[in-house]
Amino acid sequence: MSVVEDHDMGGNSISFLEADGFRYPIVDPEIVKGMTQLKVKDDDIFLLAYPKSGTHWLWETTSMLLQGKAETIPHWKSKVMVEFQPQEVIDAFPGSPRVLNTHVRYNQLPAEAREKKCRIIFVLRNPKDVVVSSFNHHKGFKNHYGNYNGSFKDYLPFYLAGKINQHHYLLVADYGSWFDYVLQWEKDIEAQQDRHPIHIMYYEDMKQNPLEEIRKLAVFLGVHADDSLYSAVAEKCSFKNMKDDKKPYDPKFNGQLIVYRKGQVGDWQNWLTPEQNEMFDKLYQEKMKDSKFKDKMRFTLA
Ligand code: A3P
Repeated sequence: MSVVEDHDMGGNSISFLEADGFRYPIVDPEIVKGMTQLKVKDDDIFLLAYPKSGTHWLWETTSMLLQGKAETIPHWKSKVMVEFQPQEVIDAFPGSPRVLNTHVRYNQLPAEAREKKCRIIFVLRNPKDVVVSSFNHHKGFKNHYGNYNGSFKDYLPFYLAGKINQHHYLLVADYGSWFDYVLQWEKDIEAQQDRHPIHIMYYEDMKQNPLEEIRKLAVFLGVHADDSLYSAVAEKCSFKNMKDDKKPYDPKFNGQLIVYRKGQVGDWQNWLTPEQNEMFDKLYQEKMKDSKFKDKMRFTLA
């Protein structure tokens, strides 16, 4: 397990922690090493998403539903992120059930989460918005990636191309490629759906119809409340309110919050050139051709 330096297409350096042929942000290697042995509780909920898919949003929404109050959680979601925190920090987190979260794959989850058949919430977001958000994330979090200074033009092919390693992961950035992540999870969800209760959500649906999505999430969580709570949670979790309330936790880069950046569907249209978009569409069609998620992903909202 070591810190590796890679380079985008313009030769700009970006660093990751590499362990067992898989890339993570630069975090404490001992925590990554111990992740599969983490002790979890029977009622823990695992919130899973590829980075930049709306994990903070769904963490907050789920946590508010479970506490039964539309009040902002006075913590940062990474306090219960399994690849970031040691056992004692996760154990000290208040509230029950807990909403643990991670960007890893099924076989990298704590073994107990698999044995105890913990509930899973799986969140997807269209990958064009994910890549734009990731670019800003990789530039912003200097503590996790070194001083990455590339342009979007040099980042996009680096992020999409990658190289296959001996473990069959497409090595690009941390957590592998979006396509690899989604396709592998699709297989694992299919294989595990009779064991784990699994709820799948889409960022774009949350954006378009938060109340409806929150109602469905509440049913999955076994929360029996009414629309007054669900509307209040939807409102409290709006991008604007979250950006204000979470400001104290969210670091800044160039004067802008890194996580609460823009919060929109279709921001990719401001970033991808027509040629880049065409290349992306071709890759998407090819990689996702057999995926059930293929036509569910929405690249814009009407
Ligand atoms: P952008 O960079 O496009 O703004 P994650 O939590 O998985 O790291 O994802 C971060 C992305 O989710 C960021 O996208 C962020 O702005 C967006 N996001 C966070 N909270 C949100 C909210 N309440 N509503 C809509 N988008 C939100």
